[in-house]
Formats: sequence, structure tokens, C-alpha cells
Amino acid sequence: MRFKYKCYDCGFETVTDDIIYLCPHCGSTEKEGEFRKGILSVIYEDDELKALAARPDLGVSDFLPYPIVDADTFPLGPTPVVRSRRIRERCGLDVCFKMDSQLLSGSFKDRASLLVAMQAMAHGQTKIALASTGNAGAAMSAIGAAYGLDIVLFVPASAPVNKLMQSVLYGAHVVPVRGSYDDAFALSLEYTRKKGGINRNTAYNPMTIEGKKTSSIELFFQLGRKAPDVIYVPTGDGCILGGVYKGFYDLLHAGLIERLPRIICAQSEGSMAIAQAIESGEYRNVKADTIADSISVSSPANGRMAVRAVRESGGYAVCVSDGEILAAQRELCSSAGLFAEPAASAAYAAFLKDRKNLDPSQTVTVLLTGTGFKDMAVFENKLSLPQAVDNDPAVIDSLPF
Ligand SMILES: Cc1ncc(COP(=O)(O)O)c(C=O)c1O
Repeated sequence: MRFKYKCYDCGFETVTDDIIYLCPHCGSTEKEGEFRKGILSVIYEDDELKALAARPDLGVSDFLPYPIVDADTFPLGPTPVVRSRRIRERCGLDVCFKMDSQLLSGSFKDRASLLVAMQAMAHGQTKIALASTGNAGAAMSAIGAAYGLDIVLFVPASAPVNKLMQSVLYGAHVVPVRGSYDDAFALSLEYTRKKGGINRNTAYNPMTIEGKKTSSIELFFQLGRKAPDVIYVPTGDGCILGGVYKGFYDLLHAGLIERLPRIICAQSEGSMAIAQAIESGEYRNVKADTIADSISVSSPANGRMAVRAVRESGGYAVCVSDGEILAAQRELCSSAGLFAEPAASAAYAAFLKDRKNLDPSQTVTVLLTGTGFKDMAVFENKLSLPQAVDNDPAVIDSLPF
């Protein structure tokens, strides 16, 4: 579909066939210690969206700026929508879980990475560089393997080993950096500046947010062409949240829904820059420290857009402690059979904390963004396997269950 780029920070708009990243006017003009400025949105004319909405065979990929080539090479979904009987009975609420942890690389990040791969291929590029805390890198590496693209991945050396190992197995050039995610981000920019290729950094490349919107559009179809009333989104950089918002925004402008769902920004108390900005209106970075590595972000790349999205949707932020995140992770496993990584479980923890504010007549979705297998190290010294027993039938009598 034809699109333009728009910067909501300064109002700049352009239509171009070139690949562009930040707003050429206000990109990176933020003050020291503040959220990045000049993240571009991909925007369509309302008339085009309305014409699209009238198509009898309308599907998720129709809403994208680049066609998905050979979609069966790396299918994006639909991911399951789980209506856990036990959790719904316990809460007395119409809640469902959107299982984006079931995407092929095990996290939501496939959505952004697939669109960036399509952008690269449409522009005749074969190399993509990025920085990642782990999941985006694994997703990009998987899709690179599927489509034969060259992936160069800068990650903090401290990222969970499972996520790094995935990327190595998928055949990416993995560069662990002795430094933070921000350091890896800067190195990846230097890489594309010197060696070319496309940069897929979260929010920096507008296609990352645009790709993530497919989750909301898919959900709209799965709920019988309806949006939920409320959606809980685990948030670090605010790129997933921006993407979730953008999906509903396009549906609204296509005339397919009447209003945006209330978007609830779920953050860790140890990494709550966006939540603070929603409250205070000040875009201040924080010093992040949380067990939920994927949402541990000091300087949120898409923070300004996330704040706007939450406010415009009538939503708010809910912050949860590491203890609440781990308890929510356990409860998802033991009550619903759903194994989500800590960052994703933060959305459920936020739902649990906030449920007293929900109306039973409302439909609620909790977005689970990454599988629990991604970060098994989180259980070290917290959980041990039961002791082995002798292979002796007499053992059965001694079992208390
Ligand atoms: C599993 C998971 N959940 C949530 C997030 C948070 O997304 P964002 O940083 O776009 O807010 C991430 C980001 O890496 C993630 O991997």
C-alpha cells in the first residue's frame, strides 16, 4: 500500500522511495537524558484504508507497506488466542491471552523482523544489521536464514544465553558487546554507516513499529472483527506498544472499529521510564534494573510515541515488581499451562494488579510476547527439580500424592 512517513514530534511528512530512519528535522535533537525524538510513523491515506476495508478477502498483510513475499517461507501467525477457563473463572473477567510467544522464533519480534526483511528485499538489499537485547536478534536471524539474508547482530554480552545461541544457530554474525544495549545500538549504526545494508534497530527503522501492528490486526480478525476493550502490553522501549496502537489506529481509520481499545502499558518497577512519562509528561531516562531483561530499558527508543498512544487510547501504566512478575509467570504456568518469559509475564502481573479496576462487561486481552524457554536462567537458585527416586515399586507408597 502507498504510504508516507510522518513525524509526530515536529509534524514533518514525506513520501519517498528511499529508506529513511529518523526524522531529518528533529531526529536525535532531544536533550541529554531525555527520550529519543523524531521516530517516524508509516501513514496511509484514510481513503486507501477505507477502500481496503471494503475488500471481501481482506487479510492482515493487506495493511502493510511492503508485500510479504512467499509468506509460507516464514509464516507470522495467526498466533493462538487462549481463553483459559481456570483464569477466567478465578477473575470473573472476559480475559484472553494473545500468544505471540508462539511465533516461530519464540517471540513477538518476528513481526517487526519480517517486515524489515521485506523492506530489504524490495530495495535489493541482502544485509541487515541490528542491536538487540536478544529476542529481536533471534527473530531477525531466523528470518534471515529463511530468506537467505545476511544478518549482523550486536548484543550486550550479558544477554540470556538461549537467545544468543538461537541467533548463532540461525547463522547470523553475532557480535557480543562488552557494554549495554545502548552501546550495541551505537555500534550497529556505525556498522551500517561504514559497511552498508539496512539497519533494523527498534523504532529507529520505522518498519519495526509498522510490522508489530500485525498483532492487533490479527487479533481483530480472531475476535470476530472486533477490538478488545482493554489490552495489556509489556513495555520496555515502547515499540511493541507503538505497534499495537498503530494496528488499532489503522483499523479505526479504515472504519473497521469505532474506537481504540484502552492500552495499558505494563512496566517493571525497575524500568519504568515510560510509566513515569505518562504520569509526569517529562521524557526522562531512568537507570533500569529488572529481572525481566527484555523490558529492562533505560532510554526507551519509542518512548514519546508510546506515551502518546497510551494517552490517546484512554489508557494508563501499571508497574509491577520483579517478585510480582515471577509470581505471575508461575501462575500462568500452573493455572493455564502457558509458559511465558518474565518480560511477557509482566503484562499478566499488571493485569492481576489492575483487575479490580476492570468491568466484567469489558473484553480484555493480555499480550504474551515471548516464550519462557527463552530465559531458563531466571529460575537458577529459585526452583529445583525433585530428587530422583530409586527404581523400586516400594517408592510409590512413599509418595505423598
Ligand atoms: C518478550 C518481549 N516482551 C516485551 C518486550 C518489550 O518491547 P518494547 O521494548 O518494544 O517495549 C520485548 C522487547 O524486547 C520482548 O522481547
